[in-house]
Amino acid sequence: MDTKKLAERLAEAGQSHILQFWDQLSPEEQAEMRLVVENMDFIEVNNFFQNAMKTSGQISQEKVDNRMEPVPREVLGSVTRDHECLKEWEREGLRCISENKVAVLLLAGGQGTRLGVQYPKGMYDVSLPSRKTLFQIQAERIRRLEQLAEKQHSRKCCIPWYIMTSGRTMNMTKDFFSRNKNFGLKEENVIFFQQGMLPAMDFNGKIILEGKGKLAMAPDGNGGLYRALGTQKIVEDMEKRGISYIHVYCVDNILVKVADPAFIGFCSLKGADCGAKVVEKTNPTEAVGVVSKVDGRYQVVEYSEITLPTAEKRSPDGRLMFNTANIANHFFTLPFLQEIMRTHEPQLQHHVAQKKIPYVNPQGQLIKPDKPNGIKMEKFVFDIFQFAKTFVVYEVLREDEFSPLKNADSQDGKDNPTTARHTLMSLHHRWILNAGGHFVDENGTRIPAIPSLKDGTDLPIKCEISPLVSYGGEGLEHLVNGRAFQPTLTIDENGVHERVKNGL
Ligand code: UD1
Repeated sequence: MDTKKLAERLAEAGQSHILQFWDQLSPEEQAEMRLVVENMDFIEVNNFFQNAMKTSGQISQEKVDNRMEPVPREVLGSVTRDHECLKEWEREGLRCISENKVAVLLLAGGQGTRLGVQYPKGMYDVSLPSRKTLFQIQAERIRRLEQLAEKQHSRKCCIPWYIMTSGRTMNMTKDFFSRNKNFGLKEENVIFFQQGMLPAMDFNGKIILEGKGKLAMAPDGNGGLYRALGTQKIVEDMEKRGISYIHVYCVDNILVKVADPAFIGFCSLKGADCGAKVVEKTNPTEAVGVVSKVDGRYQVVEYSEITLPTAEKRSPDGRLMFNTANIANHFFTLPFLQEIMRTHEPQLQHHVAQKKIPYVNPQGQLIKPDKPNGIKMEKFVFDIFQFAKTFVVYEVLREDEFSPLKNADSQDGKDNPTTARHTLMSLHHRWILNAGGHFVDENGTRIPAIPSLKDGTDLPIKCEISPLVSYGGEGLEHLVNGRAFQPTLTIDENGVHERVKNGL
């Protein structure tokens, strides 16, 4: 497309300002910009902006309080309250896995802004004794689960791992996996694909320039998944492989039970097409969305959308009435995703996030604003719950399954590398105790199962169990029963190691 045509297209869309520095660009910069502009559907982008602004206006005006209902007990499964069903759910999940019907799908297109790293979050190492990254931990859980399913059903199986990246994370993620030989998974079973990007816009709908020849672009939210499933032919790949069930999850939860057989078994036995894993919200002001019914349909109501009196409401048993906190672990059947792509995806509205977006002013200087100057538009992965025919909710224990890595380390901080490391080690400590092992200090004195806050610290006992040895605490008795260990204890495929002296 020649420059005149380009200018005409932009003028039609009211975005002519994009070319204001055109004559100052080098031929390479011009070529790069031309490519971006040619590939963008400006009419669509303008429509996204108008619709997103309209809906976000409505949301801020009317809280959903009056229309919200808690999740009814009959759609709720709980690892504590329905403990007697767990084995059956797990068996069913493992059966589905052994028949190659289960895939996992990782949402890893985010930019990790809060954590403050320049690389994909999954590459983060929270300083466990093994120095494993989040990606490696997840890969090894998949490998172990395949083995468990194979053992139970005496047939070889595989859990394909679909990894959604974005323009910002694709190359680094792929390089990292390739350098690490896919952490032992077969290359053909790790499938990378890329979500879309959208330009950031000012409050008048003008696309923001972050350089003289560069538009400010950002991934289109984790709900960008549904468009990418079609454009990147991912659903087609799932069909070819005979996949029925998909576990979708976020990259940042160090405790995530990838392809959790009990969750999958529960959802499949209930005949659900869509399910969400939750933990109990116990603090009314905790900044998490809650799964609930609004106007008779399921959705996640974000904390910004309900008022404090509603967040504080309690059921007769004393628990918060809206206590099903979303932990971004979802179950979908393939037919449900196909239906979403065919029918509903184009109607999903973008959510608006007001941001401080660096921009170049008409003089060509880069300005870093100190208050929001524009918006980013995002779809959310849970926006499709409303279309489910049979929706279920599965409640798990926070200390066993949810410890997200959101923020950089800071004193008394929350959801950071230290809390992630500590929750994983204390889970593994409990596994050792449950399998009949225990810990002793440097004098050989038994350390109580619930350590006291000795010396004012509440540091967990240092111990780490490789996912290649145990997925959820199983298979440890023969290694630890009746034995006493001095921290640091690590258990991996080469055996049990105590490294007492120099730490790790
Ligand atoms: C998310 C959930 C929130 C939940 C919380 C639990 C959404 C929209 N919100 O919030 O309800 O309580 O996790 O930890 O799911 N991502 C992409 N592409 C994008 C943006 C994000 O793939 O364009 C991925 C990220 O890489 C990450 C996940 O989505 O794996 C969650 O994104 P993040 O922005 O961290 O969501 P939260 O605000 O923490």
